[in-house]
Amino acid sequence: MNDVTVELLGLLAPLLNDDITSETDLDPSARSAAVEPAMLQQALMNLCTNARDAMPDGGALTIETRAIHLTEAVDKARPGDYVRLAVRDTGCEIPDDLRDRILEPFFSTKEPSKGTGLGLSMVYTILQQHHGYLEIESEVNRGTTIAMHFPVVPQPADSSDDTLPQLLDHLSDFSAVQPFCEVSQP
Ligand SMILES: Nc1ncnc2c1ncn2[C@@H]1O[C@H](COP(=O)(O)OP(=O)(O)OP(=O)(O)O)[C@@H](O)[C@H]1O
Ligand SMILES: [Mg+2]
Repeated sequence: MNDVTVELLGLLAPLLNDDITSETDLDPSARSAAVEPAMLQQALMNLCTNARDAMPDGGALTIETRAIHLTEAVDKARPGDYVRLAVRDTGCEIPDDLRDRILEPFFSTKEPSKGTGLGLSMVYTILQQHHGYLEIESEVNRGTTIAMHFPVVPQPADSSDDTLPQLLDHLSDFSAVQPFCEVSQP
């Protein structure tokens, strides 16, 4: 898992400014999620570009996985097992009065040339399509964590299938994600 992580961060590196460090915090017990790898890739890239934009003076970006057991329904997500895939940054906070708006299509606080306001609405749509849920935590001086939760796919006991390695394989063709990345380059 560690090798795979290093590979992902290498691929993300061209997106990040030199003064942003990146690392992963992976839970070995996080299992496969019921999500198409290309969609997961796009959602993850959207969150990473937002984290980068929130840290114009540098900071730390962390990609985190966790196994989560949900005991009560959240939105359309039913109680059960989920894999949490979160992007954490140490950048500016999301003001309280904007929290309800940031998932809206075309809502952006960035200059028109830097943001269309579609990144988070796309993430939210992907989560809804997959019966998952989103958590947003943001605090002054501590930064923001945006966490996607996807339902876990029950796997046969002898299966070694794992969505994160699949995603990382997909990302190894960096040219596939380049056009998306260029949209948000400063
Ligand atoms: N990690 C974050 N830290 C602080 N603010 C954030 C973060 N992620 C999103 N936001 C806020 O939410 C708004 C909406 O984000 P969203 O990704 O939908 O659009 P955008 O980044 O402005 O444009 P686009 O993603 O289309 O290039 C941002 O303009 C920003 O104000
Ligand atoms: Mg964005």
